[in-house]
Amino acid sequence: MLGIYFSGTGNSRYALETFLRHYNSSAKTVAIEDKSAAKLIGQHQELVFSYPVQYSNIPKMLKDFIEQNSRLWNGKRIFVIATMALFSGDGAGILARHLQRYGAHITGGLHLKMPDSISDVKALKRPLEQNKLTVKKAERKIICAAKHMKHGKPPQEGIGLLPHFAGLFGQRLYFMGKMKRYSNKLKVDPAKCIGCGRCAALCPMCSIRMEKGKAKAGDRCTMCYRCVNSCPKQAITLLGKKVVAQGTTETYLAP
Ligand SMILES: Cc1cc2nc3c(=O)[nH]c(=O)nc-3n(C[C@H](O)[C@H](O)[C@H](O)COP(=O)(O)O)c2cc1C
Ligand code: SF4
Ligand code: SF4
Repeated sequence: MLGIYFSGTGNSRYALETFLRHYNSSAKTVAIEDKSAAKLIGQHQELVFSYPVQYSNIPKMLKDFIEQNSRLWNGKRIFVIATMALFSGDGAGILARHLQRYGAHITGGLHLKMPDSISDVKALKRPLEQNKLTVKKAERKIICAAKHMKHGKPPQEGIGLLPHFAGLFGQRLYFMGKMKRYSNKLKVDPAKCIGCGRCAALCPMCSIRMEKGKAKAGDRCTMCYRCVNSCPKQAITLLGKKVVAQGTTETYLAP
């Protein structure tokens, strides 16, 4: 068994690692941006796939990864974990359908509410203590799902026609345009940037480069929010104009 993940701020990675610790502790995990990912997937028949929902859709980088490696999915048995801040409708279902198109057999789906990663928009921001409780609650749900999976009854969240309609009409149709191409909206405030290079090193799309001691945003952003949440000077924004509250899963797991 292999765990695969795409994760901007750590929620989806945490969900996968926690799930596997309770389901199959010998399973390896790999990020889709890791160079060895395709080779490892090729070596395993049973997979657990974890990712963050974006507007009831799949991040562009993940969609491209699935398509570029389309021959890898045929005959695989895949369980899907979708993390989200509030609502996806069919978070597990939409990834499941993409994989099914290439011959995968979907064993089930799990939806997990986790802290919101959009750190420059106020709407879904919650206090630190509340985010810590959200992660604790998700952990309990993951352990329960792993137990059911062990008994041959994997959860089926987000799979099927009703969730499909909820995701499609809930928000996917409305935001479809945002998800068709990579974003060129990332902004770095040069007055705040101290040129530490952290953002450039962390970006899974290599869409940030350092130029004359400052970070410069490119136009291949998959909106993972990793850089926005990690910049020590709050110099980066994407959907909003100002960083409201930064956080990664590690922040919420700290005692
Ligand atoms: C661009 C973007 C769009 C998002 N859209 C949704 C959404 O439609 N529904 C939702 O509940 N959460 C949404 N979120 C929140 C993330 O899905 C959530 O915080 C997720 O757990 C982040 O996981 P990660 O740390 O693995 O990246 C969105 C986040 C981003 C960055
Ligand atoms: S992480 Fe922030 S401070 Fe560091 S280079 Fe990037 S934008 Fe500048
Ligand atoms: S530029 Fe930032 S938000 Fe965009 S893909 Fe890279 S790390 Fe993620």
